[in-house]
Amino acid sequence: MTLSVEGKRILVTGGSSGIGCAAALALSKAGAEVMLTSRSAERAERVASDIAAASGRRVIGLRLDLASQADIRAFADDFQARFDRLNVLANNAGALWTSRQASPDGYEMTWAVNHLGPMLLTSLLLPLLHKSGAARVVTTASNAHLGGTMAFDGLGLPDSFSHAGAYGRSKLGNVLFTFALARRLEGSDATATCLHPGVVATGFFRFIPVVGPMVRVLATPFLRTPAKGAETLVWLAGDSEAAGLNGGYFYDRKPGRLSPLAEDPAVQDRVWDISSKQVGAVWPLR
Ligand SMILES: NC(=O)c1ccc[n+]([C@@H]2O[C@H](COP(=O)([O-])OP(=O)(O)OC[C@H]3O[C@@H](n4cnc5c(N)ncnc54)[C@H](OP(=O)(O)O)[C@@H]3O)[C@@H](O)[C@H]2O)c1
Repeated sequence: MTLSVEGKRILVTGGSSGIGCAAALALSKAGAEVMLTSRSAERAERVASDIAAASGRRVIGLRLDLASQADIRAFADDFQARFDRLNVLANNAGALWTSRQASPDGYEMTWAVNHLGPMLLTSLLLPLLHKSGAARVVTTASNAHLGGTMAFDGLGLPDSFSHAGAYGRSKLGNVLFTFALARRLEGSDATATCLHPGVVATGFFRFIPVVGPMVRVLATPFLRTPAKGAETLVWLAGDSEAAGLNGGYFYDRKPGRLSPLAEDPAVQDRVWDISSKQVGAVWPLR
């Protein structure tokens, strides 16, 4: 990898553990000014200070809960008041729920946190990204999108729920969002890409009750380390080879396998429109 991130300001959501934390460390060691988020201010600050100790660089920990649109709006306001530049937004935070839950705004929680949250955050920070010169929006999607479906009438809070269905839909949302955004960014200085990190030994397994932690222990020798899982994210965020890439889904730094739904511009636009309405996003596109 040829990272060119010296002095670049990079915001990594969900940088407090797993893939996001490993990416934050790698980018910080390569010279970026990293900002990472957690739902807990204390955890964000603790992890930021651990990374700063390891890299010798400034790292800032910030609190953000992507479940709440009000929280995201307050975060973006505060961010823009404090910082005059942002070069890369890495939408990495994500989670899984095993039962149907509603977000504070009334949307199914997996959809709200994994898809709507990053979309709203991106729309709010886009003016700052545009202002900062060549900018990149990188989103951690998943091969789970391959099993994702879009029931357009039930994108708010569907009656029927399966955790795999909700997770796959949210990750398909990440890919559709990236492709729709990339088309809208064409001709500007900004790009949008997304990735599959592989199957990675992170805290993610705790979401699956009883068997999750057991599977993680037994399968760890066969799973990727967080550092390995973070490689494509780091490459898309900061490698000179990845500069100018716009609209791709990557796995191990190569184009990944896409579901036919993900590649369909009509589906991309439909989900873009519905989701933008759900979060009240106004897109300051150039
Ligand atoms: N692990 C895998 O095999 C795998 C495979 C494909 C894709 N992914 C994707 O990779 C991304 C990172 O997951 P991971 O495996 O690194 O899991 P992880 O270790 O559980 O990390 C998840 C991160 O997301 C943050 N987060 C969770 N809920 C949040 C919320 N409501 N608002 C804001 N931040 C929230 C967590 O922060 P706090 O808990 O500190 O708030 C944590 O930093 C996710 O998008 C996941 O879908 C993972």
